[in-house]
Amino acid sequence: MLETAATHGLFEATRRSLQAVPNELPAVWLYDARGSRLYDEITRLPDYYLPGREAEILQARSSLLSRRTRARTLVELGSGSAPNTRYLLDALGGTLERYVPFDVSEQALHDSAATIAAAYPAVSVEPVVGDFERDLGALPGAGPRLVAFLGSTIGNLYPAQRAAFLSALAHELGDDDALLLGVDLLKDVDRLEAAYDDPSGVTEAFVRNALRAANRELDASFEQERFDYDPLWDPVNEWMDVGLRARESHAVPVRRLGLELEFAAGERLRVEISAKFRREAFELELERAGLTPESWWTDAAGDFAVVLAHRSRNGRSSHV
Ligand SMILES: C[S@@+](CC[C@H](N)C(=O)[O-])C[C@H]1O[C@@H](n2cnc3c(N)ncnc32)[C@H](O)[C@@H]1O
Repeated sequence: MLETAATHGLFEATRRSLQAVPNELPAVWLYDARGSRLYDEITRLPDYYLPGREAEILQARSSLLSRRTRARTLVELGSGSAPNTRYLLDALGGTLERYVPFDVSEQALHDSAATIAAAYPAVSVEPVVGDFERDLGALPGAGPRLVAFLGSTIGNLYPAQRAAFLSALAHELGDDDALLLGVDLLKDVDRLEAAYDDPSGVTEAFVRNALRAANRELDASFEQERFDYDPLWDPVNEWMDVGLRARESHAVPVRRLGLELEFAAGERLRVEISAKFRREAFELELERAGLTPESWWTDAAGDFAVVLAHRSRNGRSSHV
């Protein structure tokens, strides 16, 4: 990856995270072409219940969604391989003209855009490569627009990042537009831990892939065998804290960022968080960002929620 104006912000954010306590490699490094393929494999693991629960909700609510939104444009942030998008595309068939998948992972984006364009010839598929935290800019397409953010990707953002992201989205939405969010709900810790630690090791390979990406793109020298995979439930923050733990004390140069990271034995490198939500607190976050939640739909087991929201009428975020 060449350092351009577009990647400069990402490199700076990575530099700050790697120097923070705990050390963190931002989750965006997980999703190169290999990481996106591994994530796809994760979505098919039996213990990773999220995509199946989200699909159940979208299927059950599709005609209601279509009546409520009448969307001409579907923008999907963090679309990846878009496993559940077809429920939206099917539901919106009567009004939809344009589908805009938006993702940082270029290969995954173009592959899924091609598949969707072939399956839905009446819809214009217009992929955008970008970082939804930095490049959101003006949302494309004619309204009414439905902006979807599925797969509980919102849970990968810290509370302050979520607030900034949701406020930016609220600012971009017009009166006729709607936002559809997939959010994973708080549940039994054993099930949460199992979802991030499958016996076949696919999730571990996915997380370790971030080190490979950093070695390649940041000219770093992370050595896999010096770290153990270490997914933890954080009961205070109510998120899965997914990362790696140094087996021994050692240094890791990250030449492109001019850093030499020192790891003590047992020290962690966080790679992502996956927050689990409670309805009341999440709806409050939406309201503070200038969004009004309109519907909260869950699957039969109450594991996952899909939230439909609009820009608040006064259009103002109360977040400071
Ligand atoms: C948890 S996966 C979800 C993928 C898909 N929506 C699903 O439900 O399976 C997160 C997706 O967001 C993308 N992503 C992560 N950080 C991003 C960022 N900052 N900007 C744009 N896309 C991002 C990843 O490439 C990946 O495709």
